[in-house]
Amino acid sequence: MPADFEKQSYWHERFLSETSFEWLVSSESFLSIIEPYLSQYSPTHKDSPRILNLGSGTSDLQNCLRSRGYLDVTNVDYEPLAIERGRQLEQAAFGDVRTKYVVADATQLTCDLSQDQKFDIVVDKSTVDAISCGGTTAFLRMASSVRQCLADGGIWISLSYSSSRFAIEQLPFGVEVIAKIPTPKFRENDPEIYYYCYLLRPE
Ligand SMILES: C[S@@+](CC[C@H](N)C(=O)[O-])C[C@H]1O[C@@H](n2cnc3c(N)ncnc32)[C@H](O)[C@@H]1O
Repeated sequence: MPADFEKQSYWHERFLSETSFEWLVSSESFLSIIEPYLSQYSPTHKDSPRILNLGSGTSDLQNCLRSRGYLDVTNVDYEPLAIERGRQLEQAAFGDVRTKYVVADATQLTCDLSQDQKFDIVVDKSTVDAISCGGTTAFLRMASSVRQCLADGGIWISLSYSSSRFAIEQLPFGVEVIAKIPTPKFRENDPEIYYYCYLLRPE
């Protein structure tokens, strides 16, 4: 990724015209990977998981979650246009907006210290890749933000194009790869290239 992916101005320019786009994989594919973790909670029960979707962009992940009954979803992006696009996508799909939308910087989240304001599952679909363009300091700020937003027993599921995205010292998480997704080949002899879905548990 070029370095501009860390800059809000890049995303602002992009979202002036982009209304819908999926990074790396479709939301349905991502959901099929995270569903076993989500389904540990019943979506219709009061224990429905509190989900934080970091760097929501113009993806329809919130719609996929909502159509599966997961309504306690907070979509966060630091670019206000992304938040506007997210609302528009939900409104167009369901006729109303029931998930939450917040403009915030994922490297400086301030979740209320009481457990009620924390999240059971934080998901990001390639947002970690964009933030990592800002270097290790930005990446570690994101990791520490996510860490302090997680409720007891909470997890972070992150999709990245990089096989070494979390190979960083001082990471306050244990890391496991839960899926390797092959990317499409354009020619038969092209090398195998994968996207990686990581499960991170606070340490
Ligand atoms: C690679 S896109 C991924 C968008 C979406 N998750 C998807 O799968 O299509 C990265 C998104 O993260 C947002 N973003 C980048 N840095 C951010 C930050 N520090 N805080 C919050 N959002 C950020 C961008 O505005 C953009 O929407």
